[in-house]
Amino acid sequence: MSQEKRIPQHVAIIMDGNGRWAELHGLQRHEGHAAGIEPIRASLRAAIRYGIGYLTFYAFSTENWGRPAQEVDALMELFCQCVIHETPELQRQGIRLRTIGDNTRFSEKVRSHLARAEEQTAAGDRLTFILALNYSSRDEITRATRQIAARAAAGALDPERIDEATLSAALDTAEYPDPDLVIRTSGEKRLSNFLLWQASYAELYFPQVLWPDFSEEEFDRAIAEYDRRDRRFGLVK
Ligand code: IPE
Ligand code: IPE
Ligand code: MG
Repeated sequence: MSQEKRIPQHVAIIMDGNGRWAELHGLQRHEGHAAGIEPIRASLRAAIRYGIGYLTFYAFSTENWGRPAQEVDALMELFCQCVIHETPELQRQGIRLRTIGDNTRFSEKVRSHLARAEEQTAAGDRLTFILALNYSSRDEITRATRQIAARAAAGALDPERIDEATLSAALDTAEYPDPDLVIRTSGEKRLSNFLLWQASYAELYFPQVLWPDFSEEEFDRAIAEYDRRDRRFGLVK
């Protein structure tokens, strides 16, 4: 008797290897980033096929500001072009775009394009597509702590009543379930400051494939691997 495949409710992806892919093909780094758009589309298609509710992509870390200005500028331009061109297709497919991270550091242009795309896709109820932009876990937890401390200082919150739910609710991800599966491409085996709180019990999967080569079949492989994992959450099973 065949058993139903276990499907994660939330998959989070660290898209890594664009630069190495570009170098391998004799291209500029920004061309590697541009080649990283199609695998996002492929992952969204696959997620809808599986009925996965949430798909998060690490697109720009707080640390990535330290890259050469030319590369940072190209990435900002790519985010704008992407949300402009992809929004109609997201709407057609019932995909809701959201962002996490501190967007105050982005230019007005980037922020307004993102806000418009979020607004125009707000009714999407098949899949929530979350872009982590100027995101890092430590920054997110620091901002959340500041907010909680301010509420406590104002007398609106009793410090004794602060629990895990208080912190979860103050994070950028408050509305979303924790990721069940974190995928990082390119063979690197680290989290690089991504969803450290939320991924406490996530299964981790590190395929060798460089992000621009990540296809729907690669996504299928990740789901098959997830299905083979035995999630125990500290219990005896
Ligand atoms: C990931 O690819 C994309 C971003 C960080 C924006 P990289 O640009 O890190 O690619 P590698 O690691 O240099 O190959
Ligand atoms: C992590 O990739 C950040 C994103 C994918 C946006 P990096 O390539 O920046 O991470 P490190 O420097 O290898 O840890
Ligand atoms: Mg990298």
